[in-house]
Amino acid sequence: MPLPIAVLASGNGSNFQAIQDAIESHLIPVKIVKLISDNPGAYVLSRAQKHKIQTSVYERKSFPNKESFEKAIVEDLKKSKAEWVLLAGYMRIVSSILLDAFPNKILNIHPSLLPSFPGLNAIQQAFDSGVKTTGCTVHFVDEGCDTGPIIAQTRLEIRPQETLDSLTQRMHEQEHLLYVQVLQWICEGKIKVSERQGLVS
Ligand code: GRF
Repeated sequence: MPLPIAVLASGNGSNFQAIQDAIESHLIPVKIVKLISDNPGAYVLSRAQKHKIQTSVYERKSFPNKESFEKAIVEDLKKSKAEWVLLAGYMRIVSSILLDAFPNKILNIHPSLLPSFPGLNAIQQAFDSGVKTTGCTVHFVDEGCDTGPIIAQTRLEIRPQETLDSLTQRMHEQEHLLYVQVLQWICEGKIKVSERQGLVS
């Protein structure tokens, strides 16, 4: 039985695509049972539909508060029977409603070596800062912004002739590999969480 997962995404969905491609290439025994977006215009919705993956859209503005918004998402996720929830370019901080419904089962990918450069425009933040090394991080989600226990990171040198575009492209390539790798470890039962760190055994 493939591992049922759901993906939450707000935009382009290249990470979603990388996971789905890995599934279709039989690299990981996973099934995306649901794609949820908070943005009705997100390109990730077309990607999911193309692969006949069920989609739902929940716009924050259609709900009176964050609590009811997340409750609707949780209900949908539970119905889908997803066991893990992967944030992939989901542009919202999640609250305890979602976290408590999937304890230690929600992951995020972020394009920096956390805890450096959390938040928006992380690739640009690193590029502008002059650091020589950046990278990407997969971590458990908590109520902070890009603060949960870190599971895995890939390092990326910023080359002397690097442009923001070239760095962004190389970053996405590494993100796609890393998220699939972490899913592989999940399938193998290798991921655990301690107070500070996500552990890979
Ligand atoms: C990625 O860089 C991810 O790390 C960040 O948002 C971006 C989403 O890209 N959280 P995509 O929508 O998967 O192409």
